[in-house]
Amino acid sequence: MKRIVIFASGSGSNAENIIRHFQAGQLARVEMVLSNKPDARVLVRARDLGTSAMYFNRTALNEGKVALLLEALNPDLIVLAGFLWKIPEELTRKFKGKIINIHPALLPEYGGKGMYGMHVHQAAIKDRKEKSGITIHYVNEHYDEGAIIFQASTPVTEADTPETLATKIHELEHRHFPIVIETLLNEQ
Ligand code: GRF
Repeated sequence: MKRIVIFASGSGSNAENIIRHFQAGQLARVEMVLSNKPDARVLVRARDLGTSAMYFNRTALNEGKVALLLEALNPDLIVLAGFLWKIPEELTRKFKGKIINIHPALLPEYGGKGMYGMHVHQAAIKDRKEKSGITIHYVNEHYDEGAIIFQASTPVTEADTPETLATKIHELEHRHFPIVIETLLNEQ
């Protein structure tokens, strides 16, 4: 049974979707969900599904406590699903090739610091982009710059608002992210 650990900072719809996907099969389990926000809804969603969930602060992340926990959990894949802090270099080195992130745009467009959540969709609408989408990529020591694993796009129409685009993007995420994770785990 492969072992997945999820990092998330917010609502956790992707985390829930991933937990449910693998609970339905025999390939892998989400061992734990970790969040940097003590009141993040993702922690409740995980616990409601019987998955361990834990909050950590910046000190725990930057002074090695999270690294010790990950060594104990020994994940085959670390999945960032709406995690807003940069992963310390110690972790990107220790888990090279095992940390992936999902970004709600077609990188390299609309990537980098500050480009998250609605900021991304507002920029795409303001720039009247004809399409937007999702990017799943490996995580290295720079924001949103790791090798791209998968992208999927959706048209952006005149009628779209940042909110309607966000809904389209979330649908793409929920459809593709668990399958991309499954494919990566099967290739290990
Ligand atoms: C997603 O849009 C993802 O692309 C981005 O953060 C958001 C997380 O959404 N990195 P949720 O918390 O999984 O609903």
